[in-house]
Amino acid sequence: MTDAKIWMDGSFVSWNDAKIHVLTHGLHYGTAVFEGIRCYKTHRGLAIFRLSDHILRLSLSAKIYFMNIKYSKRQIENAVIETINVNEPEENYVRVIAYYGYGKLGVNPLPNKVSVAIAIWKWDESITNREPEKGARLAVSSWTRIDSRSMPTQAKATANYANSALARMEALKMGFDEAVMLNPAGKVIEASAENIFVVRDDVFITPPVSSGALNGITRDSILAILHHSGSPFEIRDISREELYMADEVFLTGTAAGIREVGEIDNRMIGDGCIGKHTMRVKEKFHTITQGRDDIFSKRWLTYANQGQ
Ligand SMILES: Cc1ncc(COP(=O)(O)O)c(C=O)c1O
Repeated sequence: MTDAKIWMDGSFVSWNDAKIHVLTHGLHYGTAVFEGIRCYKTHRGLAIFRLSDHILRLSLSAKIYFMNIKYSKRQIENAVIETINVNEPEENYVRVIAYYGYGKLGVNPLPNKVSVAIAIWKWDESITNREPEKGARLAVSSWTRIDSRSMPTQAKATANYANSALARMEALKMGFDEAVMLNPAGKVIEASAENIFVVRDDVFITPPVSSGALNGITRDSILAILHHSGSPFEIRDISREELYMADEVFLTGTAAGIREVGEIDNRMIGDGCIGKHTMRVKEKFHTITQGRDDIFSKRWLTYANQGQ
């Protein structure tokens, strides 16, 4: 498929040889945790966005699942950098996964070894763009988002994505681009794989992590940008009808970037195109990831070719 190399438990293997046993625990019971990380082409070479924050989140996800990862956070960060450096510089998405492996199959994963793998590839656009000049068309899902009474929402575990996949498939089959999910209290919480922001009367609003939204690294970046520029924002629950009354809505995620929303449940948001506030944060985010922002690029970018 590609001649890229994949890091598996400390060694590089070719793409086609990066295989695991069919009785791997994580495959059967969703006992794997992962991160998606972006690496951007900048004038100083490839830059990884918020690498240490991603690896910290991975380690916390692993802790929740009693996973004993045998590599330190620093070792995994270095392995990500190495994986980028041995592969094509055009590739721009890094997946780090830790999983309970092959050994004893049964609900209890603890007897199994924990393995780590790191792969890199070019991510296709994650939210279908039928009309590029328009925002994405969303539908509120009939699937309720998991919440921490049944699944730890802050662990980025593969198991959580069965809920996401059901919502995404439902939205696509109904002709929409993505699903908006409500939490068990009926409040808007996030999309199937992105956080959500609403803008109304020049105020940005996003649901709290304590209500079940993933502590998204892109979400956190947007909040830091807003805080720094003195733009008003609120972190609070959002009701379904507030979506319909919004001036602007956008989604944030590592894979999706900042994605403007044009329609929700067949109601147009603003004029259906990208709004001025969305445009502003999108441009700022782009400047940062291109290594051209004096404050945030320095804080958030790790250059892959350091020391070369
Ligand atoms: C459910 C969910 N919410 C939000 C996000 C956005 O998080 P991040 O910005 O860290 O990619 C993701 C993507 O990982 C996700 O899967």
